[in-house]
Amino acid sequence: MSIDFGNDIYEEPIVAKTFLQEDAQEGSLRPKTLREYIGQEKAKDNLAVFIQAAQKRGEALDHVLLHGPPGLGKTTLAGIIAQEMGAGIRITSGPAIEKPGDLAALLTNLNEGDILFVDEIHRLNRVVEEILYPAMEDFAIDIIVGKGPSANSIRLDLPKFTLVGATTRAGQLSAPLRDRFGVSPRLELYTPEELAKIVTRSATILGMDIDPKGAMEIASRSRGTPRIANRFLRRVRDFAQVMGDGTITKEAAQMALHRLEVDELGLDNIDRRMLTAIIRNYSGGPVGLETLAATIGEEAVTLEDVCEPYLMQLGFIMRTPRGRICTQAAYDHMKIPMPQSGKLDGQTSLLD
Ligand code: ADE
Repeated sequence: MSIDFGNDIYEEPIVAKTFLQEDAQEGSLRPKTLREYIGQEKAKDNLAVFIQAAQKRGEALDHVLLHGPPGLGKTTLAGIIAQEMGAGIRITSGPAIEKPGDLAALLTNLNEGDILFVDEIHRLNRVVEEILYPAMEDFAIDIIVGKGPSANSIRLDLPKFTLVGATTRAGQLSAPLRDRFGVSPRLELYTPEELAKIVTRSATILGMDIDPKGAMEIASRSRGTPRIANRFLRRVRDFAQVMGDGTITKEAAQMALHRLEVDELGLDNIDRRMLTAIIRNYSGGPVGLETLAATIGEEAVTLEDVCEPYLMQLGFIMRTPRGRICTQAAYDHMKIPMPQSGKLDGQTSLLD
């Protein structure tokens, strides 16, 4: 039997922005309690206090807005909040709620204290959003009954519920919606050490043999994102089982991730094309995001939401009012000599 290890067997980019079909298995890996949840210490500590306080008062938790780059565990945290509150959870997303009636149906079916989780809440349409305001503030919605001159508005009381919204783009939320959240923790990219713990925990749950260096190798290439780390873990297991004795070692991780074109820092093909384009096509920048996206044939949102947070964390790119620029570190990583014309000094002044 021949096995094709070429990259064309992977239809989706390995660092895909969206939830892939295989990520559905992530469900079994999701921590169920705050204690099991690794990392995000600030958000976790604050949430623990708010949860305990709400429980002591016998009230529903205040509405929570979770924001930050994709794949950091916003859905997982919503599930944990429900579990810790001993409440039920209904999961939906901004684009799935098309009409006011869709939202009314969701809200009127909630029980007292339930969590309504709305993923991608920045994609709610305006009409639906306006129903949400009184629902969040007064736990009531106004429903129009009938048509024309005989139309009537009736107020329906709702159970006291908690809206947990998640977004990768908090800036796109309208101010009235943003202001109605009592807390809005920002989730940060994970450190390699935290990701190594997550990978080790996942491997244990999945019954895989993993050594600490193998876990660290996967972690340090997972660009701060547990979803990517767990994806890599499954791919490395494939290689380890077919080409080795099944143990996830540093060597197995290096070989598998090399085959997937993920480099030592976790940059994939899109990241490298982005950096190369800034350096080669735009002399290191500044270049606008849309122009850059068109140059490499990717969507601007992918570059902004997926590539940039990590490339900025690595200190490879900077945002300036006139566009993105590559730093010396990016030139070094891409092994391209930086022009000796004092370019970076010139560029830095753009930040002023
Ligand atoms: N799996 C995915 N994210 C996790 C996290 N933050 N802690 C533990 N396991 C996880």
